Amino acid sequence: MRTALEWTDELSVGVELIDEQHKYFIGLINRLVEVVEKKEPRSVSDMVLQELRNYTKFHFDTEEKLFEQVKYDKLKEHAYEHRKLASVVDAFIVRAQRSNYNYATINLLIAFLIDWLVFHLDKVDKQYIDIFHQHGIF
Ligand SMILES: [Fe+2]
Repeated sequence: MRTALEWTDELSVGVELIDEQHKYFIGLINRLVEVVEKKEPRSVSDMVLQELRNYTKFHFDTEEKLFEQVKYDKLKEHAYEHRKLASVVDAFIVRAQRSNYNYATINLLIAFLIDWLVFHLDKVDKQYIDIFHQHGIF
């Protein structure tokens, strides 16, 4: 089985709860890869995509609540990046539904999510490490 993206310590943002959620998110991306590779039924694609959407919102919520708690000065910009991703995921899901869960569409989503996640963890999430640590959040 091809693993689309593997967790490495380089992806760590220094906060255990967030790292665990990012690992789960990577697991969902890899689950989508499996759906395509095994040509699983449309109902399964639908289920995994819904979970991906719900988990994305849940995870962004976790980060944003912590931002409020520590009065993070980049809260607005960061939350804006989250909203943009959520709307792209929504659009992909509509597209997947319209294409009757065509695997090519799901593959496009997988590629997009991997690019987005690696960039976001490295360039956006890592910026909050210091403020979280200053507030004793590890
Ligand atoms: Fe984030």
